[in-house]
Amino acid sequence: MTQFKAVLGVGGGIAAYKAAELARALIERGFSVQTVMTEAAQEFVRPLTFAALTGNKVITSMFGARSADEVLSSSVEHISVARDNQILVVAPATADLLARFAHGLANDFLTTLYLAFTGPVLAAPSMNTAMWEHPATQDNLALLRSRGVHVMPPDSGPLACGTTGAGRLPDPERIAAYALRLLLQRHDLDGETVLITAGPTREPLDPVRFISNRSSGKMGYALAEAASLRGARVLLVSGPVNLPPPDNVELISVQTAAEMHQAVMAHLEEATIVIKAAAVADYHLARVPPQKVKKTAMRLSLELDPTPDILAEIGRRKRDQLLIGFAAETENLVPEAKRKMETKNCDMVVANFVSQDGTGFESDENEVVMVMRTGETVSPPRGQKREIAAQILDQALKLRLALHSKS
Ligand SMILES: Cc1cc2nc3c(=O)[nH]c(=O)nc-3n(C[C@H](O)[C@H](O)[C@H](O)COP(=O)(O)O)c2cc1C
Repeated sequence: MTQFKAVLGVGGGIAAYKAAELARALIERGFSVQTVMTEAAQEFVRPLTFAALTGNKVITSMFGARSADEVLSSSVEHISVARDNQILVVAPATADLLARFAHGLANDFLTTLYLAFTGPVLAAPSMNTAMWEHPATQDNLALLRSRGVHVMPPDSGPLACGTTGAGRLPDPERIAAYALRLLLQRHDLDGETVLITAGPTREPLDPVRFISNRSSGKMGYALAEAASLRGARVLLVSGPVNLPPPDNVELISVQTAAEMHQAVMAHLEEATIVIKAAAVADYHLARVPPQKVKKTAMRLSLELDPTPDILAEIGRRKRDQLLIGFAAETENLVPEAKRKMETKNCDMVVANFVSQDGTGFESDENEVVMVMRTGETVSPPRGQKREIAAQILDQALKLRLALHSKS
């Protein structure tokens, strides 16, 4: 589902290869991407990479090998590209590009487009630390910022030139999320504090072994990103996952169900919306042996105790908070969701089949049914977890309005 149109301007820096990842991350967030590469950028990466990733032809020069008629018949391309797109993302923004933007040069397609473009511009600079710290670069940046250009400062770390310091291109996922944030001016969650749990828990069996489950945390992280983009303060209580936390989210990392319980209860009062997307272990070993259990020829039985029921406790303790639970089921989806809503005092239960291929645990897609306290059920079409996250938040806000107008 394409919602937004971005121009991706690629400069001639060593991080140009990461711009390919950025193109993919933008597309995943619903952008169609028109790539513009400077001549220097093409020394680092071939245009074909971007054409294949974005499905669009790549603009590589102002005039190209086209005839005068062809140049003009495409209605002066730098103007039409400026008009047809909502955001210009420049990554990597080289020292040279920043200088050319700052001084209004229009000596290639990207710099001319920059001058013709009236929407938001996001620049992600990347260069050697000395180049980054040079007063010329810093002055150019200050000038660009004063003219409204959004600049994502580079990360610090080991650089391609062999030194360590500021200059690395930020993670493409973060750049794409920033671009989306600039376009999503909805801010319908301004002033809200959303407490989200995500991922699995790990219940130790001894110092080296644990029981866990297949939850990847992707659904909870997508919800955290979506809520933060819409203006909420987000507290993300996460079990162990392999995902970078979204920008502007307060991450509270936990391992066990007991730790998750403690973290959630500590922040419950602050929350206006609570979303329990974590797959919390139902059982744990109450007394974990201090040493590694040795292998023997004997059968080994484990006696497990129930873990604290976090959702039920929030349901008992909640006051005004909207409580959204998740139900991962392999059968009787809607009846199970309804049962969970009643027994746990939820306002909404998001039920998903975990036995279907390509949805649920570990996958990027999900297919859910939202069961509301009002009796309504909503079944959006199968989609990316980010799209499903947006729909869950839309429904949550609608539901709260409906519940408040009743009371
Ligand atoms: C191997 C190599 C790596 C380079 N990496 C960078 C870089 O990371 N950042 C940067 O600002 N310039 C870098 N440069 C210098 C730019 O390529 C040069 O300034 C070029 O004119 C920038 O063109 P642009 O305006 O099209 O980006 C590098 C040059 C070479 C040869």
